Amino acid sequence: MTRRVIGIVMNGVTGRMGYRQHLVRSILAIREQGGLPLDGGGTLWPEPILVGRSADKLKELADRHGLTHWTTSLDEALAHPLAEIYFDSQVTPAREQAIKAAIAAGKHVYTEKPTAESLEGALELARLAREAGVRSGAVQDKLFLPGLLKLKRLVDGGFFGRILSVRGEFGYWVFEGDWQDAQRPSWNYRAEDGGGMILDMFPHWRYVLDGIVAPVRSVYAHAATHIPQRVDERGEPYAATADDAAYGVFELEGGITAQINSSWAVRVDRDELVEFQVDGTEGSAVAGLRNCRIQHRASTPKPVWNPDLPATEPFRAQWQQVPDNGEFDNGFKVQWELFLRHVVSDAPYRWDLLEGAKGVQLAELGLRSAREGRRLDVPELTL
Ligand SMILES: NC(=O)c1ccc[n+]([C@@H]2O[C@H](COP(=O)([O-])OP(=O)(O)OC[C@H]3O[C@@H](n4cnc5c(N)ncnc54)[C@H](O)[C@@H]3O)[C@@H](O)[C@H]2O)c1
Repeated sequence: MTRRVIGIVMNGVTGRMGYRQHLVRSILAIREQGGLPLDGGGTLWPEPILVGRSADKLKELADRHGLTHWTTSLDEALAHPLAEIYFDSQVTPAREQAIKAAIAAGKHVYTEKPTAESLEGALELARLAREAGVRSGAVQDKLFLPGLLKLKRLVDGGFFGRILSVRGEFGYWVFEGDWQDAQRPSWNYRAEDGGGMILDMFPHWRYVLDGIVAPVRSVYAHAATHIPQRVDERGEPYAATADDAAYGVFELEGGITAQINSSWAVRVDRDELVEFQVDGTEGSAVAGLRNCRIQHRASTPKPVWNPDLPATEPFRAQWQQVPDNGEFDNGFKVQWELFLRHVVSDAPYRWDLLEGAKGVQLAELGLRSAREGRRLDVPELTL
């Protein structure tokens, strides 16, 4: 059986997402399963070429996983004879320049979100990739999570009738860093370093709403910095200059209203760290990362408002779990496999840099809406 090797320059693999989800759970997992089987026979063997700022960290990481290619020079990595794809999971402000260098070197590009810090920058990347004739992909991992795949299955199967509204709750308590270490990097809380809830999460909400429910047509966002001072990785206090919570209202095509709360200053009273409730004329669903529960019109209770009585129904118990009806692999890995097949076998792939730019567009408009205190239209994006 033939084995085609494809070199992937991986930048940012010493970070949280780059290491755990992209290197270990995606690329190394594909190698552990013997490579990626290709249509028409043969397998694809991804060969990581690690690039980053710290030689010590890269060497340690490469040794730990038996990898041989690493360098602190992006130019050197891009010039590696095996390199065909450039992947970026660096901090957001470092991304644009590195992707431009990769496109100029003729590499296909796959990147974490947000694809750039501004819509202008994100569109430029999409345009450059198209002009250079390279393939591009932006991470949209939530679309490949079991809970949201089940939600999509319900939408596609017509379960909801007419969809009326979506309410999303995302968040958890991120420790301030004084009493207990923060569980997220400090740059996330500094606007000048590409941090902030809206820039981080609105790109996700854009593809979740567009891809599962209906295209987003307008946004109103209220942003807050609930915790104005935090303590960084070195124990130094710093001013949290970015928003750590965003309360967004989105109008979707077809008159659907979506409202999503996102907060790093909320304590979890949910089954999962994110949950979306979708209400339709025929039924409702609550989808999380893994699970999805439903209530059909026919099994909907008829509560009557009476504060003098205790709750008359066990509301939470009246929902029914949607069965898996299949195996779900890691969402990041599933998307990597689709992108790799797109690059080597021309398989169709929708989640390109233009789709990534739509996420940046919603974040940019969300930040503007919060600054100006008004609702803003989300215009169609074209290159
Ligand atoms: N898809 C998702 O669900 C998801 C979740 C979290 C983060 N992300 C995205 O992934 C990217 C990385 O986030 P993370 O949480 O892994 O961050 P992190 O701080 O853990 O990792 C950042 C990486 O960038 C590198 N880097 C390059 N230049 C840097 C600089 N000037 N300062 C600091 N680090 C620098 C670091 O060495 C490290 O490898 C961000 O763009 C973020 O938006 C995506």
